[in-house]
Amino acid sequence: MAKTVLVTYASQTEATAEVAEFIGKTLEDQGLLVMVKPVTQVPDASPFEAVVVGSGVQMEHTYREAQQFLKRSRSVLAHKPLGLFITCASLSKDTPEARAKAENYMAQLTGAAGVPVVDQTAFAGRMDMARVKGLMGMLMRKSDVQAEDWRDWEAIRQWALGLARQWNA
Ligand SMILES: Cc1cc2nc3c(=O)[nH]c(=O)nc-3n(C[C@H](O)[C@H](O)[C@H](O)COP(=O)(O)O)c2cc1C
Repeated sequence: MAKTVLVTYASQTEATAEVAEFIGKTLEDQGLLVMVKPVTQVPDASPFEAVVVGSGVQMEHTYREAQQFLKRSRSVLAHKPLGLFITCASLSKDTPEARAKAENYMAQLTGAAGVPVVDQTAFAGRMDMARVKGLMGMLMRKSDVQAEDWRDWEAIRQWALGLARQWNA
């Protein structure tokens, strides 16, 4: 029987949501049974055999909903293989400082999970002011910064294939 996988995410401007969908599609292509949904729409992860959780980053923090999901699912996730990913702007540059920042963001998620993680990774994301909501969006749109998309779909695919290899074994 194919393993059931939940790919769930917290996303403010859809960059992480699109990565989650892509990971879900890649896992599905490898024969896994996948559901992709925002963390706010997943009351319970227990029906799934493996779980992937993703989050974007704003103001040096992974999103509260992702952390809350991980905290409230701890007892369930302790018994399942768990993969974690983030998307962030820091990794648009490949410098020691950028990697240290990404590690710090990842640590926020692993800390919230508090259970062993089979695989964790940080991807460069997308910065699109036009999609930022609320007052922050209004302020950022004034600054005339162009949208930039640094997502490396092949790197994302390879990460998902690695998970599929483990979960199909
Ligand atoms: C208001 C705002 C603040 C951000 N702050 C950070 C940050 O502190 N560090 C970082 O690496 N990326 C930061 N980013 C970039 C986002 O993490 C990146 O664009 C990510 O892919 C967005 O994911 P999402 O659309 O799923 O929310 C910020 C983006 C916005 C719009």
